[in-house]
Amino acid sequence: MKDTKIIEIKSVNDIELVEAARILREGGTVAFPTETVYGLGANALIEKAVNQIFVAKGRPDDNPLIVHVASKDDVDDLITGVSNKAKKLMDAFWPGPLTLIFKKGKLVADNVTAGLDSLAIRIPSHPIANKLIELAGVPIAAPSANISGKPSPTEGKHVVLDLVGKVDCIIISDQSEVGLESTIMDMTQDPPMLLRPGGVTIENIEGIIGEIAVDPSLEEKLEGHIKPRAPGMKYIHYSPKAEVIVIQGNPTNLVNKINELKEIYKGKKIGVMCSDEILPYFLEDIHISLGSKSKMEDIAANLFKALREFDEFGVDIVLAEGYDTLGIGKAIMNRLNKAAGFNIVKV
Ligand code: TXA
Ligand code: MG
Repeated sequence: MKDTKIIEIKSVNDIELVEAARILREGGTVAFPTETVYGLGANALIEKAVNQIFVAKGRPDDNPLIVHVASKDDVDDLITGVSNKAKKLMDAFWPGPLTLIFKKGKLVADNVTAGLDSLAIRIPSHPIANKLIELAGVPIAAPSANISGKPSPTEGKHVVLDLVGKVDCIIISDQSEVGLESTIMDMTQDPPMLLRPGGVTIENIEGIIGEIAVDPSLEEKLEGHIKPRAPGMKYIHYSPKAEVIVIQGNPTNLVNKINELKEIYKGKKIGVMCSDEILPYFLEDIHISLGSKSKMEDIAANLFKALREFDEFGVDIVLAEGYDTLGIGKAIMNRLNKAAGFNIVKV
């Protein structure tokens, strides 16, 4: 058991951030807020420090980590080449919820990349994350700050629940603004390939560099045997203890189907997760609305938190509304489908 230091930080000028940065630089583990989800950081140059991340999360060691830096100037030392398209994406979306994969240089510890010859990098836009990394003065390897397999943490209390006693320090701040992990683009190939959809959408990216490729394992209709290019995408993920069933279709059919399923699973404890638009039909059930479909960013931001809340309620089955895959909808449906183990009903 580690004696975890828990600190609440609201401002980049908070003196405690200096201490957290020192812990990181000297080889400790620090969980911190980012605009996507909370991350669990360690000095990416020290193999022993990085190893503590895998231990704390119970993370399989074949799953590489994203390295976080504070500014574009810090990238060149870590990799061997930046294409023009990569430069354009860096200019357009960094700092922000976009991770880019490059050919790896020699500097970072081997276990960061789990034996791959490529390296994933991003610059977070959250001011506390950015300042923390700048103060640490070293690149920071950081996966989401959850126990492997659980939904990523979007609030400090999720991190405390999962990691207290397992890491050296937890920084608690506000709720993560995006609420889904970063978009991942593999820039080692042309056209570059989307490996994980996130807050920076396909439409955003194609607007800057033209047509991109999409990892075939992300396409819903494919069989399960196609191996994702981002190793972490193969694991069951984002899953609450409850079984999740996603129902996708027009609102009338959707409401009818959810009622039908409620009848079929009578006797089980059922939760309904939906938008404001159809919430009025389910007020007598255990229910959580993720927000209005007119603001899909809210639906994204509230998804992981809601999945964790259903666990607190102890429900057996979550009946979840599915959404269109336009814009951020692509990332929402990717996470929902994974939470449901692709148990999706189209009506
Ligand atoms: O928003 C985020 O990206 C958050 C915050 C903390 O920055 N981090 C995050 O890390 O989601 P993690 O470890 O939960 O997810 C990283 C994903 C995994 O699926 C991993 O397999 C993939 O990125 N990945 C990392 N390095 C890679 C590489 N070199 N090639 C392919 N996939 C890679
Ligand atoms: Mg993760």
